[in-house]
Amino acid sequence: MAFAAPQIVRGFSSSAVRNVVIKNVTIIGGGQMGAGIAQVAASTGHSVTLVDTSDEILKKSIKLIEGSLKRVAKKKFSNKPEAGEEFIKKIVQKVSTSTDAESTIQGSDLVVEAIVENLKIKQDLFSRLDKLAPSHTIFASNTSSLSICDIASSTNRQDRFGGLHFFNPVAMMKLVEVIGTPATSQDTLDSLVDFSKVLGKTPVSCKDTSGFIVNRLLVPCMMEAIRLYERGDASKEDIDIGMKLGAGYPMGPFELADYVGLDIVKAVIEAFKTKDPKNPLFDSSDLLNKLVAEGKLGIKTGEGFYKHK
Ligand code: NAI
Repeated sequence: MAFAAPQIVRGFSSSAVRNVVIKNVTIIGGGQMGAGIAQVAASTGHSVTLVDTSDEILKKSIKLIEGSLKRVAKKKFSNKPEAGEEFIKKIVQKVSTSTDAESTIQGSDLVVEAIVENLKIKQDLFSRLDKLAPSHTIFASNTSSLSICDIASSTNRQDRFGGLHFFNPVAMMKLVEVIGTPATSQDTLDSLVDFSKVLGKTPVSCKDTSGFIVNRLLVPCMMEAIRLYERGDASKEDIDIGMKLGAGYPMGPFELADYVGLDIVKAVIEAFKTKDPKNPLFDSSDLLNKLVAEGKLGIKTGEGFYKHK
């Protein structure tokens, strides 16, 4: 992956600062998604600060990044292992770590939050950062199921607040959903679109609606597949084959649910239901709830709808 020049972004309607260059990106949450976002931002020439709650977690985040970069380097420099090592070193050097978000925010042009999927915790974080961040700094959340508007309401920079929804695994998946609330300024949206392009992604724009584009279609489809199976209308294996061969899906809905994690599927559909209680597309499933209660969460626990070695 080549280093690209950091982007030039346009100014902000509510800020005196114009033509801000997004060079410094703070990513809060060094889990699966945050580590992936840090990797792609560092690989495209940005200075990245990755924040999590402990040094131990951050060490694991860096290991995740190195592991992912090793796979890239193996393909890219198959005959030149030293060049591969150098490639990894250069990118990892662009990522510094911290357990103190507040102390890192001063130099930040963009904050991307990828912490636990909990509205109150996200609001608390952004409310604290809002008081310390420079006025030009854009805030973005990677939430899958919460309202960007609700998260942004904890700050006084709602015009400089949007959604930047990456897909897992971040290094591989080309799509980024850029979400604007009614308060998000056009300059902020343009900046987030430009930033996504500099990362080598394809951005699509969506309003702040439950699930945005992809999860709004995908999660109800998974839930309907589960209901079809629960009613005994078809086996899960046949539903998966049907959607792969009949609809061209790369994975069937049960395979995908096990990959994503059944706890995540349950949390997402519950969040949709909270926002729109009368929508039958967002009804829960006894079978899904039972599997989650039994700790059968999919690939990560070795069993979900299927058993995994
Ligand atoms: P994860 O559980 O792997 O990582 C979350 C990280 O945030 C953990 O390392 C945790 O220690 C840290 N954290 C929690 N509270 C914190 C705080 N107050 N300050 C700093 N760090 C904190 O979760 P994952 O899967 O990376 O998801 C993160 C976010 O991205 C969630 O909002 C999720 O909905 C969203 N998302 C997840 C996708 C997925 O496939 N896993 C896909 C797209 C979005």
